[in-house]
Amino acid sequence: MTLFDVYPLNNITITNAKGSYVWDQEGVQYLDMYGGHAVISIGHTHQHWVKRIEDQLEKIAFYSNSVVIPIQKELALKLGRLSGKEDYQLFLCNSGAEANENALKLASFYNGRKKIIAFSKSFHGRTSLAVAATDNPAIVAPVNETDNVIFLPFNDEAALKACFAEYGKEISSVIIEGIQGVGGINIANESFLQLIRSLCDEHGAVYIADSVQCGYGRSGRFFAHDFAGVTADIYTMAKGMGNGFPVAGILIAPKIQPKHGMLGTTFGGNQLACAAALAVLEVMEEERLIENAKTNGAYLMEQLKAIPELKNVRGRGLMIGFDLPEELKDLKKKLLFDFKVFTGEAKPNVIRLLPSLALSKKQADEFLASLTEAIDELKSKQNV
Ligand SMILES: Cc1ncc(COP(=O)(O)O)c(C=O)c1O
Repeated sequence: MTLFDVYPLNNITITNAKGSYVWDQEGVQYLDMYGGHAVISIGHTHQHWVKRIEDQLEKIAFYSNSVVIPIQKELALKLGRLSGKEDYQLFLCNSGAEANENALKLASFYNGRKKIIAFSKSFHGRTSLAVAATDNPAIVAPVNETDNVIFLPFNDEAALKACFAEYGKEISSVIIEGIQGVGGINIANESFLQLIRSLCDEHGAVYIADSVQCGYGRSGRFFAHDFAGVTADIYTMAKGMGNGFPVAGILIAPKIQPKHGMLGTTFGGNQLACAAALAVLEVMEEERLIENAKTNGAYLMEQLKAIPELKNVRGRGLMIGFDLPEELKDLKKKLLFDFKVFTGEAKPNVIRLLPSLALSKKQADEFLASLTEAIDELKSKQNV
């Protein structure tokens, strides 16, 4: 049997990982400024995370949601406290797409409506509704196509007001990333999020904060949407939640009442996933990783802004992007193969930095040194 070939691969096999570094099968060390696509929150193979998963595995890995699972309640309590959303309810699932799928569906159950507002360059996942609300026709299959999703320009307040004026009571939910990830690190304006909040209140729509990539402390606040000073009705979470263990969830405002059978999943909230998620929160708290993301992210961004070749350096905390001029279009590959540094990208020419929230200043400096050297080499090659 062969693998279904859907991923463009770098010819590298990673066999070990620790903190902000990974090693290939020849023992070559790489600095991980990509975090396996924003997934590594507390650092690769963190001791506490490994131990908590091992201990749980010795007791029980899985039993279905037909019995009481106390570790789910433990996770909900801790998550409520660290995110500042103590009065919200937690529903656990397994991936970012599934979290968004459940959020959109729940919103529709709540207000009995069908229309969803999403924005240009959005990415919400690859399942049915999540992909329909994703602004990339190339990944939407004919069966996913629907008239229920309205795409508006990102951060365009006039367009949002006009849409609510036209469709008013038909709108079920508005879904937005606090910082667009796949779209290229675009920050939702605080006034735009405030407007979403007030229009949703006025029209009975549900505000869904897709925090799958920008959430879980990455921005320097627990949710990137928090910068706007208003709360969403549903927050979706995944990537950083398990530090690589597949676990996801949605936080649901108290006004949305549950009903048996409304949502459900076989694997979501299993004991092992909850242990991994608790370990992440315990380390985030103990090692003050949100503060670290804020401080070292600000430092990194300031240093990047001083590099004249990099355009439009932007982001928050340890979610940073910058545009590359045409002459540096090979920078990502050069960093990976010549300087052994993983970074992320966004089309057409954006580099995305999504390292572990535990990235140290020394590691930030190590990255900056590699980056400036790689830029110099690319430039001098073009000048010969
Ligand atoms: C903002 C956002 N939402 C949803 C998803 C989908 O998450 P998953 O790949 O876990 O389904 C992603 C994945 O990149 C994402 O960045």
